[in-house]
Amino acid sequence: MSSSNQHHQNIPSDIACVSDYRHYAKQILSDPIWHYIDGGSADEITKAANRTSFDAIKLRSRVLCDLSGASTQSQLLGQSLAYPFLIAPMAYQKLLHPLGEQATLAAANAQDIGFVLSTLASTTIEDVAQQYHQQQVESPSPLWFGLYVQPDWCDTVNLIDRAQQSGYQALMISVDAPINGLRNREQRAGFSLPDNVSAVNLSNNNQDNTNYNQYKNPVLARLQHSAPTWQTIEKIIEYTDLPVIIKGILDPQDALKAQAIGASAIVVSNHGGRVLDGAISSIDALPAIRHAVGEDFSLILDSGINRGSDIFKAIALGANSVLIGRVALYALATAGPMGVAHALKILKDEFELTMGLCGAKNIAEITADKVLL
Ligand SMILES: Cc1cc2nc3c(=O)[nH]c(=O)nc-3n(C[C@H](O)[C@H](O)[C@H](O)COP(=O)(O)O)c2cc1C
Repeated sequence: MSSSNQHHQNIPSDIACVSDYRHYAKQILSDPIWHYIDGGSADEITKAANRTSFDAIKLRSRVLCDLSGASTQSQLLGQSLAYPFLIAPMAYQKLLHPLGEQATLAAANAQDIGFVLSTLASTTIEDVAQQYHQQQVESPSPLWFGLYVQPDWCDTVNLIDRAQQSGYQALMISVDAPINGLRNREQRAGFSLPDNVSAVNLSNNNQDNTNYNQYKNPVLARLQHSAPTWQTIEKIIEYTDLPVIIKGILDPQDALKAQAIGASAIVVSNHGGRVLDGAISSIDALPAIRHAVGEDFSLILDSGINRGSDIFKAIALGANSVLIGRVALYALATAGPMGVAHALKILKDEFELTMGLCGAKNIAEITADKVLL
């Protein structure tokens, strides 16, 4: 399988919103890569629910509001955000463009938007950090590391040390995918990584050669052997100086546990519907989680965000900010860094427009009474 795609030199002129990039990405990418990035798990019920839930939320428009001094600025974990969204950690971006993560980061930097690098990135932690430090201006947007806990503690510590030493400002630990989801769409399409794309940050990892099929319950045996538990996360929080964000929570009880063990924030997420099919949409999970953790705890949300109005809805229902997922990848596949920068700019403009038409002058004014569930 090849990862070299026919990218557009320019942004196609008929792109008006970020999901318009989806159609181009589908044409440009090989079938297996397309199904890998676009697919959800199993019957894609959760992936679809992420959208239907957002669409069901109505905005209450307000007229003739005084918008003097309006701003999209906010604070998250002591860092300043020009707009309340960051790029989600997403694996293997070189599948989509030869510059991979570096293309996405260049766009994020140019648009003043934060970036989260996945453990499964196809570019090294150090190369991304170097580019970030070179391209940053006086008020830097966040660069965070998206950690997948490794079965071997030493490998996990090694990733944390590298991220910390390279100047990443927070650890976002993904806990909802301890095992691959049932990615039936990519299985049917025969997806496998091409030779020139790999998880370069894990190349020296200790291999697990256990044959789990020897166990009565092979899937559960694998989970027991290699998946992290609350104790693992506590150990990481104790070990690192960086703020820890736990990504992939949908249940208020889990949110409370995360808060109790000293996490600085959580990401309410179902991984874009890529892991447990049948899980609830993250926007449906959000209000109860906000209620449980109280108003001062930082909440980030992702899964299904395609529009600036979705970002607004998430904030109204209790998120402090959101992560942008697949739509950034569609833009990357279509038009490289220019495409991603364009997609981010569209989201910013749509978000501002929604604020203006709902009479919210700043992020704090995006309150629950601006939406109707
Ligand atoms: C191709 C792809 C790769 C992903 N890789 C990771 C990853 O390495 N780590 C992680 O925590 N989440 C990963 N995710 C999930 C995203 O961080 C995010 O939760 C999800 O894409 C949000 O849903 P959306 O695509 O509907 O916006 C990945 C998602 C996609 C589409």
